[in-house]
Amino acid sequence: MTKKNKASQAIGIFDSGVGGLTVTHALVKLLPQENIIYFGDTAHYPYGGKSVAAIQSYSIKIAHMLLQQECKLILIACNTASSVAYDLLKEYIGSKAIVINVIDPLISWIKNECAHKKIGLIGTKQTVSSNIYKRKIDELGKGIQLSSYPTGLLASAIEEFGRHEIVGNLLDVYLAHPSLQNIEALILACTHYPVVKDKIAAFYDHKIEVIDSSAIVAQAVQEELKIANLLNPDGGHRRQFYISDYDYTESFVSGTKLFFDEDINLEHYPLWD
Ligand code: DGL
Repeated sequence: MTKKNKASQAIGIFDSGVGGLTVTHALVKLLPQENIIYFGDTAHYPYGGKSVAAIQSYSIKIAHMLLQQECKLILIACNTASSVAYDLLKEYIGSKAIVINVIDPLISWIKNECAHKKIGLIGTKQTVSSNIYKRKIDELGKGIQLSSYPTGLLASAIEEFGRHEIVGNLLDVYLAHPSLQNIEALILACTHYPVVKDKIAAFYDHKIEVIDSSAIVAQAVQEELKIANLLNPDGGHRRQFYISDYDYTESFVSGTKLFFDEDINLEHYPLWD
């Protein structure tokens, strides 16, 4: 951390699209005084089926932009980018800002607060094939059996149809997979999925714990800022929401409300133009 970092500087948050708004919402609820700059890379959405090299290069360019905006902390509000680009971003950003992903806070929570032994996980193709959750959970040595299943179309279906029954139908097909049976908990390893958390819980007759990491990640951000003495004592006047490819359709704009729970003003940021 350089001397330049001040508490009033913004928290920069990014995702492939509007899914990261679920984490952003948890964050502004916990830390309403913080200034926020959100960037959704809608021009490259979805990241889930892209190559590691592509996701890494998008993430570096976005981080560069957030550093130019003098963010004190960069939150990767995307499991896919957290899975394959976090180490590189940490190296790239160095001491210029704190970097937080959406995976490690959940791993700490599992380590300290989770008693389940059979856990399922759903996420994008890239998140699941990275095997990062399994590796980190195995490293805890708690004897947890994790079975992961890629739900490739789910994030896009949620963006397109919100909580429409078509998303419920898709969930019925995905969640019926044998690897997701006889589990005690299910990790939602994609920041789009909390929007349909209730539907997922209903699929399992509310008998399992559906783990949405949004609030856990928000707490990790609070903790890191506290340690660095960078919690903003007052302020919160700046809330900027950028997307890289503007979709002006009414359904897209109203759809974002599902993720943030209130109306937001999306602005086009021409990062790739
Ligand atoms: N929000 C992204 C994540 O958490 C998923 C959407 C995508 O494929 O870009 O992984």
